Amino acid sequence: MAVARGEGVWLYDFEGKRYLDAVSSWWVNLFGHANPRINAALRDQLETLEHVMLAGFTHAPVVELSEKLAALTGGRLGHCFYASDGASAVEIALKMSVHYWRNSGRPAKNRYLNLAGSYHGETVGALAVTDVALFRDAYAPLLRPAVSVPSPDARLAEPGESPAAYAARCAATLDAYLAEHHHEIAALIVEPLVQCAAGMAMYDAEYLRLAHASCRRHQVHLIADEIAVGCGRTGTFFASEQAGANVWPDFLCLSKGISGGYLPLSLVMTTPDVYAAFYDDEVTRGFLHSHSYTGNPLACRAALATLEIFATDDVLNANRARAAFLDAHSHSAELQARPWLRHWRQRGMIWAFDVDSTDPQFARRVFAAALQRGLLLRPIGTTVYFMPPYVIGEDGIVFMLKQTLAVLDEVCAHG
Ligand SMILES: Cc1ncc(COP(=O)(O)O)c(C=O)c1O
Repeated sequence: MAVARGEGVWLYDFEGKRYLDAVSSWWVNLFGHANPRINAALRDQLETLEHVMLAGFTHAPVVELSEKLAALTGGRLGHCFYASDGASAVEIALKMSVHYWRNSGRPAKNRYLNLAGSYHGETVGALAVTDVALFRDAYAPLLRPAVSVPSPDARLAEPGESPAAYAARCAATLDAYLAEHHHEIAALIVEPLVQCAAGMAMYDAEYLRLAHASCRRHQVHLIADEIAVGCGRTGTFFASEQAGANVWPDFLCLSKGISGGYLPLSLVMTTPDVYAAFYDDEVTRGFLHSHSYTGNPLACRAALATLEIFATDDVLNANRARAAFLDAHSHSAELQARPWLRHWRQRGMIWAFDVDSTDPQFARRVFAAALQRGLLLRPIGTTVYFMPPYVIGEDGIVFMLKQTLAVLDEVCAHG
């Protein structure tokens, strides 16, 4: 579909028809398309500095952004390394972890653990820690795959088992694996709280708490890939915060929403301990990794405008009210009562449910039928989800629920 322009939660085609962007354009947009405040910041930045390399040089937006993000972790993750897309942030975290162990005299620690069904991007390193056969299989000869441990996805709990109890059971399996193999494992990489590409698989924060403790005990890094779940999506600014006050990972990857959905920007936040392991006159102990547009000033300025909106508009609380409205609305109750619906679930500003359908074309049909009704929905398999921009109003929520119900009644009636 060709898009002519965007405004708030709406995208417009060249005939002037509008579509509500219920998936935030692949989970990047936070405060609506063509947001006036982010636009103004970018215009100002354009007149000042559009780009300079970040090797041997620095600039105000990148310094200010690093300081603001570090402050959001209370200084625990006080260092930021910049890149552009999400996958490049994952590459950086993976490389930095292995290089840290090498600099610490433990080069055998060079393998990774991931969660079953995980998705971390599609460059070769990121693909090696991604557990989605569809993306991975064609490139198998290029990859050194991670070892997968069970996903704490609450849908997999036994009947009567709570999400927290199932999370604890998965964490025990992880701990047993680490006890035996920690000498060869550099890091465990997780998508905290929601494995989005796996079909919005949601899990209890208990898993993060226990996995963090296991990693500490066995001297294995914890990499939190918050590329999709960071920036308020799960109800807190960082999803990792829900694991408890002192449960910060060693590496935290951000991208997508951090620039408000405007420009490619990604970064890896890490600890003073990791930073110190690379701070050396010996060049080979340094972290030699760069991209031409690393820390681009325009992208950083968009990110600063995004953080400014979080600070001035009390966004996380406003989102709680939005979420409560959606949950309480009658169309959501009607949806939940449909016989084909399974596992209605929600975390912050992410809602998902599975549809009992064997139609291999289900996702495609829903996508097409939703467009007809002015809604951008993009199911993953038979999982339908909403991840709208944080400026969606009550009218938008009512429209999204009503149209989704109509689309699914139509698609499910045909098989
Ligand atoms: C958890 C997670 N990690 C990494 C990525 C890759 O980001 P990008 O598509 O910007 O490379 C994605 C993209 O959807 C993601 O959801």
